[in-house]
Amino acid sequence: MPKFYITTPLYYVNSAPHIGHSYTNIACDTLARYKRLMGYEVLFTTGTDEHGQKIKDAAELKGMEPKQFVDEIVPVFLGLWKKLKIDYTDFIRTTEPRHEKVVKEILEMLHKNGDLYEGEYSGWYCTPCESFWIESQLVEGNCPDCQRKVERIKEKNFFFRLSKYQAWLIDYINSHENFILPAMRRNEILGFLKNPLNDLCVSRPKSRLSWGIEIPFSSDHVTYVWFDALLNYISVCGYASDAEKFKKYWPADAHVIGKDILRMHAVNWPIMLHAAGLEMPQTIFAHGWWKIGGDKMSKSKGNVVNPIEMVDKYGVDAYRYFLLREVQFGADGSFSEEALVTRINSDLANDLGNLLHRALSMVEKYFSGIVPERRDLKYSDEITKALIDKAGTLSSEIKKGLDNIDFSYSLDSIWTVISVANKFIEQKAPWKLSKEKKLEELKDMMYDLCEILRMVSLALTPFMPDTSNNIAIQLGLKPVEKRDFSELKWGLLKPGIRINKLAPLFPRIEIK
Ligand code: ME8
Ligand code: MG
Repeated sequence: MPKFYITTPLYYVNSAPHIGHSYTNIACDTLARYKRLMGYEVLFTTGTDEHGQKIKDAAELKGMEPKQFVDEIVPVFLGLWKKLKIDYTDFIRTTEPRHEKVVKEILEMLHKNGDLYEGEYSGWYCTPCESFWIESQLVEGNCPDCQRKVERIKEKNFFFRLSKYQAWLIDYINSHENFILPAMRRNEILGFLKNPLNDLCVSRPKSRLSWGIEIPFSSDHVTYVWFDALLNYISVCGYASDAEKFKKYWPADAHVIGKDILRMHAVNWPIMLHAAGLEMPQTIFAHGWWKIGGDKMSKSKGNVVNPIEMVDKYGVDAYRYFLLREVQFGADGSFSEEALVTRINSDLANDLGNLLHRALSMVEKYFSGIVPERRDLKYSDEITKALIDKAGTLSSEIKKGLDNIDFSYSLDSIWTVISVANKFIEQKAPWKLSKEKKLEELKDMMYDLCEILRMVSLALTPFMPDTSNNIAIQLGLKPVEKRDFSELKWGLLKPGIRINKLAPLFPRIEIK
């Protein structure tokens, strides 16, 4: 069986997750479900980033010990992933011993190899970004990434020789087109690498911050939170603990992240791996930001929308659909409830919901709920041919989109089929066929509608698992788990099954 290893970032647990975090996990879940349908053995990991200044500050604010604080927040993440049907294989917390052990081993290795050295650091620190800056990098005295206040810092630390590997990295990126995606982000990183890299400070003195993984060769220091967190991608797949598993899954096929943390993933991480003698991940894909008004939605800024609220109001599949359809993966999007409701009413209630409802009502009316047998395809007229031809492209179009991590492309192709099917009903006017007693043609037509719905239901599986199942059940089919994408071709529906019409999939939402 081929394997597919996909990761989400490990989210900071300084507060509850918002729409942005749910976006990355829904995207990864969709890809993981797709690969399973394609017969891959999938390792899909997510988790939480629990060390560092930011977490310690958040805990302090609540008068709690950091560990007690993170233990309370983690279940909020777990609960959200369950609600969003995020079917991950493993959840890793950076405070777990299996992870801490790996961080220490890698630090030891790099130290022995001479890639870590001790030095004096003097500069500025941005706590929300957990990043060091030198004076000349500041923008009007503030953090160049988030424009917030920085603190002056002077201390003894350990540094990782990023600079030593800069030429290697440029070369690697240039010779691996799909290493950093979308292309725009790749160019951004290549642009950044035109300037000399500063070595990376990978420790924090305990006198300033004690909440972290102790540096194995210096009891006065803990590990820099980013150096610690990135290593989750190897600790979760068995590095130094399960050789067989590690050999099977590493390198990762896709690290999916937001563009805010691209540099950590596309510069620091590859160099860490290379210095440790490990292979590069296949692809690092940085998606865009959900914004409110013109601002990035952010825990630190507090302008967040709670995904639980949206899901309770509109349902999990409508929410998943909206996020993946509304903007192309990679671009920024502006979140609003109005936009979500518009999508629900037009795409889900109108296009998809109506197609299912009309088709099943007619099968009930004309054939007492039994899917009729179809004559040979050679009896087909032009409109029918158009429908079957379009259905024939569905499989390759969906795969094309998902293989390129372009969800809206795949969804567009499904909705094209849905709209062709709705036109098919209007043009063939089954009510007329019934009146004119053209029974054979009416049978063909009902079969074709049920068949297109079977294909649509299967095609929707990775995106909207519940809806996909619901359609299958209404068609009288077996549950989706037992199907696979090789069945995404015309004519596999067995006539004679009894449909099972239920309530409308997506009731229209009244806009006040
Ligand atoms: O950066 N729009 O954690 P984090 C889209 N712990 N996606 C968003 C978003 C938005 N407005 N806001 C957040 C960290 N995200 C580190 C990661 S990985 C080894 C360590 C998503 O809690 C997006 O995936 O700040 C982004 O990269 C991530 O959450 C940042 O989460
Ligand atoms: Mg962040």
